Amino acid sequence: MSHPSAFWDRIATRYAKSPVADQASYRHKLAVTRQHFTPQSQVFEFGCGTGSTAIEHAPHVAHYLATDISSTMLAIARDRTAGQANLEFQQAAIEDIPGEARFDVILGMSILHLVKDLDATLAHVHRLLRPGGIFASSTMCMSDGYGWFRFVGPLGRALGLFPRVSMFKRSHLESRIEAAGFRIDYRFQPTSRKATFLVAVKTTGEPPG
Ligand SMILES: C[S@@+](CC[C@H](N)C(=O)[O-])C[C@H]1O[C@@H](n2cnc3c(N)ncnc32)[C@H](O)[C@@H]1O
Repeated sequence: MSHPSAFWDRIATRYAKSPVADQASYRHKLAVTRQHFTPQSQVFEFGCGTGSTAIEHAPHVAHYLATDISSTMLAIARDRTAGQANLEFQQAAIEDIPGEARFDVILGMSILHLVKDLDATLAHVHRLLRPGGIFASSTMCMSDGYGWFRFVGPLGRALGLFPRVSMFKRSHLESRIEAAGFRIDYRFQPTSRKATFLVAVKTTGEPPG
């Protein structure tokens, strides 16, 4: 089995050229997230892709660390952002980001359905956030409206057409975020078959478990 980054490296150029499908929803998510920024904010985004969201947000915060596992996605992102001194791109999986309570806001956009171990990812986000910090995420909850993907996904993945995608419902995602030590503060569901945008606040000091 190839490394998950191989799929994203392969499609990066095409991904960079594809326009955001629902601009109004995207702009709304940016605006809601930005309400949680201050000029002093330390922000971390994982699975940043070609950096579109990072480029939008970085001018509003002190420092913005954007990471991805795909070197090709990051090469495109770096090309697009020459001159933004407070925006740092790094090739890393979320679990490779060290430290505790270092960030005020963490973003995971179109990524939680792609990670191998959702609970481990959420525990790591929790650890990296300062108490009261914000986790903003946008996630395809595939079992709400795309149940058929359970059957075609493995074949598509074997053919290299799809990445590994976890199947879960919105209710499951919300309960896992809450179980990881967050309170969900805001929900945005443009239509039932679109990504679920959640803003969660870190409520407990210690990661559960
Ligand atoms: C669907 S794209 C989303 C990119 C960007 N966040 C956006 O909204 O346009 C998913 C990105 O996550 C990255 N990725 C996939 N699995 C990852 C993981 N385990 N850790 C970090 N990044 C990952 C991929 O390389 C890809 O760039």
